[in-house]
Amino acid sequence: MITFIGGKGGVGKTTCSAAYALKCAKSGEKTLLVSTDPAHSTSDIFSIKISDEITNILPNLDAIEISGAKESKLYMDKVRQSLKNVVSPIIIDQINKQIDAASISPGTEEAALFDKMVEIITERSTDYDKIVFDTAPTGHTLRLLALPELLGAWVETLIAKRKKSIILMSMANHSGNAEKEEIDKDPVLNILKNRFDKIEIAKNIITDSKKLNFIFVTNAEKLTIDETVKAVEILEKHGITVSEIIVNKILPENMTDEFWVSKKEQEQKYLELIKNSFKDKKISLLPLLQEDMKSDSIEIMADKLRE
Ligand SMILES: Nc1ncnc2c1ncn2[C@@H]1O[C@H](COP(=O)(O)OP(=O)(O)OP(=O)(O)O)[C@@H](O)[C@H]1O
Ligand SMILES: [Mg+2]
Repeated sequence: MITFIGGKGGVGKTTCSAAYALKCAKSGEKTLLVSTDPAHSTSDIFSIKISDEITNILPNLDAIEISGAKESKLYMDKVRQSLKNVVSPIIIDQINKQIDAASISPGTEEAALFDKMVEIITERSTDYDKIVFDTAPTGHTLRLLALPELLGAWVETLIAKRKKSIILMSMANHSGNAEKEEIDKDPVLNILKNRFDKIEIAKNIITDSKKLNFIFVTNAEKLTIDETVKAVEILEKHGITVSEIIVNKILPENMTDEFWVSKKEQEQKYLELIKNSFKDKKISLLPLLQEDMKSDSIEIMADKLRE
């Protein structure tokens, strides 16, 4: 099972991802925690350096940190390397300039991050009972999940174009008889088809509630709740299942100070709103803790998450 932890910036996605992954690991599930947070907060929480290689951090719990910037650089380097062998040095400079432009164009890092996530989903799913993704704030995550559709259509167009040019070439070369053979062995087409297949697999997994679900983290505050309601609506419209809402940073009980008593009353009102907005979903409440998030506070959080 793959679980995406989503939510607005700063609500506690990274904290809840760590707590949820720890809960799964403690209940005996072999779990992989995937962090996409550029601030390396997961490393801080577990006080262990988590790298871009899968590392075991606790019994039953492995972790990896992936970054769009790094993946996009790796990808562009790979393209550069493979082109070096097939094109003449005269045009390599020009191509390098184009690659540099592509590396900084909007969407490249997202696409590279998406590719890496798909790679983990398709290649690692069988090694784990649970893969938990700590995602980027809502807007980015929604864009990321819309990518299979966008990329799928784009790659399909590229495939059609490439086929057309092969047919034209083979018509010019040998009166059009060997098109099928040319198409089958064309390296560019094979790369494109491979990519298209991967995107299709990802699309199918993302919308299969038996394989992937979403947990949304929110706080008991008006704006955050509004954003959560909207985001959940969008996800469900795309066929993505949201199974659980975690309300993080719940204030302690029995406060005496007037300010906090009134805050607590307000919180109660917002909790009602959350319960009414998500009647069909599991709702977990996590306390606002006094201390910094370290492995023992994550342990407390993990124990508080609902079964
Ligand atoms: N229940 C809690 N009690 C106390 N502090 C918390 C709690 N949950 C999160 N925090 C703190 O709030 C801050 C934000 O939490 P976290 O990094 O988990 O949020 P995030 O949603 O991942 O943020 P971002 O959108 O920037 O990735 C951190 O400093 C974290 O230690
Ligand atoms: Mg985070």
